Amino acid sequence: MTVDDGNSTQPAPPSAATRDLERYAALFAARTEGMRSSAMRDLMAITERPEVISLAGGLPDVSHMPPEMLDAISSAISRDAVRALQYGPTEGMAKVHEAIQVVMAEEGTQADLGELLVTTGGQQAIDLVCKTLIDPGDIVLAEGPTYPGAVPTFTAYQADVRQLEMDEHGLRIDLLEETLAQLDAEGRRPKFLYTIPTFQNPGGVTMNLERRKRLVEIAHERELLVVEDSPYSLLRYEGEALPTLRSLDGGQFVIYLGTFSKILAAGLRIGWVAAPRAIRQKMNIGKAGADLCSASISQVVVEAALSDVDLWRRYLDELRERYRGRRDVMLESLEQAMPEGATWTRPDGGLFLWATLPSQLDTTNLLARALRSNVAFVPGRGAYVDGRGGNSMRLNYSGVDETEIREGVRRIGAVVTEQLELYGDLIGEPVPQRRRVDHGAAPVAEQAPGALVQFPRRRAGER
Ligand SMILES: Cc1ncc(COP(=O)(O)O)c(C=O)c1O
Repeated sequence: MTVDDGNSTQPAPPSAATRDLERYAALFAARTEGMRSSAMRDLMAITERPEVISLAGGLPDVSHMPPEMLDAISSAISRDAVRALQYGPTEGMAKVHEAIQVVMAEEGTQADLGELLVTTGGQQAIDLVCKTLIDPGDIVLAEGPTYPGAVPTFTAYQADVRQLEMDEHGLRIDLLEETLAQLDAEGRRPKFLYTIPTFQNPGGVTMNLERRKRLVEIAHERELLVVEDSPYSLLRYEGEALPTLRSLDGGQFVIYLGTFSKILAAGLRIGWVAAPRAIRQKMNIGKAGADLCSASISQVVVEAALSDVDLWRRYLDELRERYRGRRDVMLESLEQAMPEGATWTRPDGGLFLWATLPSQLDTTNLLARALRSNVAFVPGRGAYVDGRGGNSMRLNYSGVDETEIREGVRRIGAVVTEQLELYGDLIGEPVPQRRRVDHGAAPVAEQAPGALVQFPRRRAGER
């Protein structure tokens, strides 16, 4: 590196960070080379600035917890202070296991006590699955795009991640079968398939019933482990609930991951695994090495919050109502703000949608420009291990209110349009116009649920 002082060039002094890196570099384990930070976590610090409208995080709205639930929680903590402030069993407290069984039953899914392990959020569950199953170079199959928080975990364990495309009905099972056949030919076997079948993060799509059944059949035929990550299934805003992969599988090849983050409170950091006993036992040992047990105080809070199941169900109803409204506002705002050529998914539930921009745009670059307009999103590349997703972005609609969603999407639309204009100037082509909202366009409510929304091309002369 050189510094231009006007006349000559001098080597620039290394920065403190570079000096530190050089000092310790020889000590780092080889696996740290594969470690990278998650796109979402990097954005967390920036998006905490009050002037930034963040459509980036996956933050649930925790500001409306019912007062009766808060009362139950605070009395449980004072009544049960000794248990709340003490270490607990690695696998989690018995009453939390019971609460998990209640929550899983809401999705028509069962788990025996010996199959359950309480974890420090669903994130630790992903980590423990990898810790238990992945050696460097092992193949993990996943959807493309996949949960941006799982990407750094897979890479930290040096997995060879193969991402398979989805369409509006979820993971393409035909591509899965092709990939498995190809791996067979190479004499290789994937360690597991990681999937978020319901309201996928970040895609916003849901795997249909036919594909769920076929996936479970494949798992049985090939003894393929399937990791079903299911944080959003209870946040359905329309359409019929679908059976979980675990319920179709009967608990043989599916490792189910759950979390209280989106259906109670993310700050508790309580999630769980329901796995075949042998796998759960290894994961339990892995967890003891990581953190001995999940926070007892958080587990006491979960017990208290779920002690009145009807109250919790009403709370979930309110959350669904609020998020449905926010999703609709985001869909309407996108229609108004995005230029022709942009498409996005229309989720039936969950917290995210996935928008794809004209291919000449790069959302990583666009984010820097968007942050100057005080709005943030997750650039699509964070959801891939291999640099794909460059013209896509994940947008969250649960974490901010409807006014902010409108304004945030308006700002993103303005930045996208500006960048397209710049690109058009460079290559001398006319710029796609902002889509006019008129009666000729199908309203959001008439578009197929879960379908990719593709705007019609503007007719000549239309403004
Ligand atoms: C698919 C998926 N898995 C796991 C997690 C981790 O959730 P937590 O650690 O808060 O339980 C998230 C969070 O957004 C997620 O979307």
